[in-house]
Amino acid sequence: MAMAISDLQARLDAVYAIGGGPGANRPGHSDAEDEAHRLAAAWFEGIDLQVEVDPDGNLVGRLRGEEPDLPEVWSGSHLDSVPEGGRFDGPLGVLGALEAIGRLGRRRRTLAVVAFREEERGCVGSRARVERGSLPGAFVELHHEQGPRLAILGAPLAVVTSIVGYVRGERVVEGQAGHAGTTPMDVRDDALVRAAVEILRIRDVARSIDGAVATVGRVDVEPGGINVIPGRVRFTIDARAPDDEQLARLIRELGLDPERAVAPTALGGAPAEALRAAIGSRGLPLVELASGAGHDAGVLARAGVPTAMLFVRALNGGVSHSPDELSSDEDVALAVDILTDALDRLASAP
Ligand code: HGY
Ligand code: MN
Ligand code: MN
Repeated sequence: MAMAISDLQARLDAVYAIGGGPGANRPGHSDAEDEAHRLAAAWFEGIDLQVEVDPDGNLVGRLRGEEPDLPEVWSGSHLDSVPEGGRFDGPLGVLGALEAIGRLGRRRRTLAVVAFREEERGCVGSRARVERGSLPGAFVELHHEQGPRLAILGAPLAVVTSIVGYVRGERVVEGQAGHAGTTPMDVRDDALVRAAVEILRIRDVARSIDGAVATVGRVDVEPGGINVIPGRVRFTIDARAPDDEQLARLIRELGLDPERAVAPTALGGAPAEALRAAIGSRGLPLVELASGAGHDAGVLARAGVPTAMLFVRALNGGVSHSPDELSSDEDVALAVDILTDALDRLASAP
């Protein structure tokens, strides 16, 4: 049933190669994400899991428990990626869970590995599933830290205590398109210059709120001619804060829509206790970190599912959402050991 950890590395490579480089290129609900789901489904079938694609397109592989009526224990993440993303963000959680379940075999409770659809553009698959009310009994997500803190601490793993709150939006700035050569500077209404002033204000607002971050990740300039004064600019805003009050301040001062906000989410319960016990049983240091990234785990936790996350140390300065994303084979192997132990504890519980 189990595969060697080298299989996990080979499978990470196989998923990373989908979509062509540089980096990972598997947008949500694209042919590339579909191909990653097909590959994963074959691997799920390869260890005799019962494979299901749910109504929201999420891929679920189940190992039926001895007492199948007990609430199920799930582990997984996502297989979509950002443009030019890294090798670990998402697939590590799906393939690590597959490896763990393969090692464990049948337990009291049903074990399931899940690949949620389109996490990067708003946790589309996991949100749809919880909105349908179809929830497991417990969820654990293994994930690359996507930051430098574990490397700075010299620790391989962390139990995640909470997931950042965030709100996303877009802004359109209208100006007056015109000739770049014949329009004097003092009569221009340059949309890109006005957008630039607003983007700097967004940065300054985030800097003024402790723990907050804000990013303008995409700017579209129209009409886009090298010799045309921009008449219209559309740009995106991704704003995040670790607690409700700071997030509310960001929303207020950036004029964002509170309806599009996702509240900060605490993790814990039995899944977190299982991770801590697994880490403690190996005499490893117990590090606990808040997540500055959003995750499917946050969606499940907000829906009331007992949920935990395990971070694995990020190398290369903690860079993520980049082809330079990296975790060592040793840390990945240790993380899968801890995940396996924690899932065993959860799936053996009466
Ligand atoms: O953007 C995020 O926080 C995550 O990588 N989806
Ligand atoms: Mn992710
Ligand atoms: Mn991501």
